[in-house]
Amino acid sequence: MDVGELLKRERIVPVVVIDDAAKAVPLARTLMEAGLNSIEVTLRSAAALAAIEQIATKVPGLIVGAGSLRRSEQVSDIREAGAQFAVAPGWAPGLLDAAEVAGLPLLPGAATAAEMMQLFERGYALQKFFPAELAGGIPYLRAVGAPLPELRFVPTGGITAELAGDYLALPNVAAVGGTWITPKCLLDAGDFDRIGQLAADAIAIGM
Ligand code: 3PG
Repeated sequence: MDVGELLKRERIVPVVVIDDAAKAVPLARTLMEAGLNSIEVTLRSAAALAAIEQIATKVPGLIVGAGSLRRSEQVSDIREAGAQFAVAPGWAPGLLDAAEVAGLPLLPGAATAAEMMQLFERGYALQKFFPAELAGGIPYLRAVGAPLPELRFVPTGGITAELAGDYLALPNVAAVGGTWITPKCLLDAGDFDRIGQLAADAIAIGM
């Protein structure tokens, strides 16, 4: 199951750490109205599953996924909440098995050529490159592009509005992800106008 099929030509994936599920729907509407098609809600807060459920039921026009997936048991939880895809910082055989059994489109993470090849062997030609900036960033992706021509990446981790365009210019980068569109301070303040502006700016970078 390829997340690329689901997200089609989406070039920006906003990654969200949400502490208050009540903010999920206004946030999702803001991102959708700005022109984004998807949201990745990370499983790093107590509110994450409720936020996914709120978005899935009340903002059906936005494709909602779960991020920071790390345990096989979480697959059924996020499916029940309504997540349409999942993103993992890395990968483990059991996690891939659980996603495959559930028919869950998964974007698994890799940071080395060996991991990338193992994931490719399991059928994942689209992978998250994480943590992108610390793992070598743009020069690294350029370097693996020649020996691993079948692979496409969604770099995440340390990406900013300033860096996103340069990543997206690489032929082996399908999309970029990050929290820069929905910073904690703006979410905490409920400043959806500013988040909408950051989302619109991100879309302009992705064009
Ligand atoms: C992720 O969950 O994909 C990353 O932690 C997001 O990284 P960022 O906060 O550096 O954008």
